[in-house]
Amino acid sequence: MTNRWNLKNKKALVTGGTKGIGKAITQEFIELGADVLVVARNEADFLTLKSEIKSDKIDFLQADLSKAEDIQKVIEQTENKWNALDILVNNVGMNIRKKTLEYSSEEYDQILNTNLRSAFELSKQFYLLLKASQGNIVNISSVAGLMHLRTGSIYGMTKAALIQLTKNLAGEWAEDNIRVNAVSPWYINTPLAQTVLKNKDYYNEVISRTPIKRIGNPEDVSAAVAFLCMPAAAHITGQCISVDGGFTIYGF
Ligand SMILES: NC(=O)c1ccc[n+]([C@@H]2O[C@H](COP(=O)([O-])OP(=O)(O)OC[C@H]3O[C@@H](n4cnc5c(N)ncnc54)[C@H](OP(=O)(O)O)[C@@H]3O)[C@@H](O)[C@H]2O)c1
Repeated sequence: MTNRWNLKNKKALVTGGTKGIGKAITQEFIELGADVLVVARNEADFLTLKSEIKSDKIDFLQADLSKAEDIQKVIEQTENKWNALDILVNNVGMNIRKKTLEYSSEEYDQILNTNLRSAFELSKQFYLLLKASQGNIVNISSVAGLMHLRTGSIYGMTKAALIQLTKNLAGEWAEDNIRVNAVSPWYINTPLAQTVLKNKDYYNEVISRTPIKRIGNPEDVSAAVAFLCMPAAAHITGQCISVDGGFTIYGF
């Protein structure tokens, strides 16, 4: 019974695990007994996180996941360190908010490569390790992948594609006992979201569209992610859970 509700000795890789939602996932995983490899560009944020967590069950891989060569580096270094993987959380994400007609092809590539290609490549290249451990993947999508929001079309496209990637991999890899799920947050209080939420009028508009009447905390998301990774969720695959304070069910 007890092992259904923890992540004891699971080896987890969390992309973008130094700030915001990824940081909360890393902290939650450590508390639940996992070893965590965090991937991000800036080591300073990792060192701050490590000093907060005070655990030797956390380590860092410096990589820019928008770059194909850095993705390869992450695969190689994870194999060298553990040669095993139980959990992959594809959390890294960024956005450039614009109207569709204003995007350059460089911006298109940057958003696609960071948000989508990294998840596709890491999932694909960790397949053998995940198969060996009967592990699982969680993709961090967004409610912007479910409906039109003001985030910009490219971000929405990547987040919708992550949900479809989740379904395809879940279907393909169920026979290998690899589960693949996704989580779709609405506004969560992180550095990324603060870039727009610092505008008081915008913030009030967001709250008016949120039945629970607050924006989410990173821990609201990390709890859902941790659950999906636990043995307790053994029969759940191919699903996308919205962590949105009721936003996606709020009609008129
Ligand atoms: N916050 C929200 O309201 C919200 C809502 C829905 C969905 N989401 C999704 O949730 C995920 C996390 O968002 P967040 O708000 O927590 O973001 P955040 O606060 O900006 O944190 C992003 C994390 O990713 C890392 N990162 C960014 N670009 C990277 C790159 N090219 N290579 C490697 N690491 C990179 C950052 O570290 P470095 O800068 O050091 O690389 C940081 O650790 C994203 O996929 C986002 O789309 C967020």
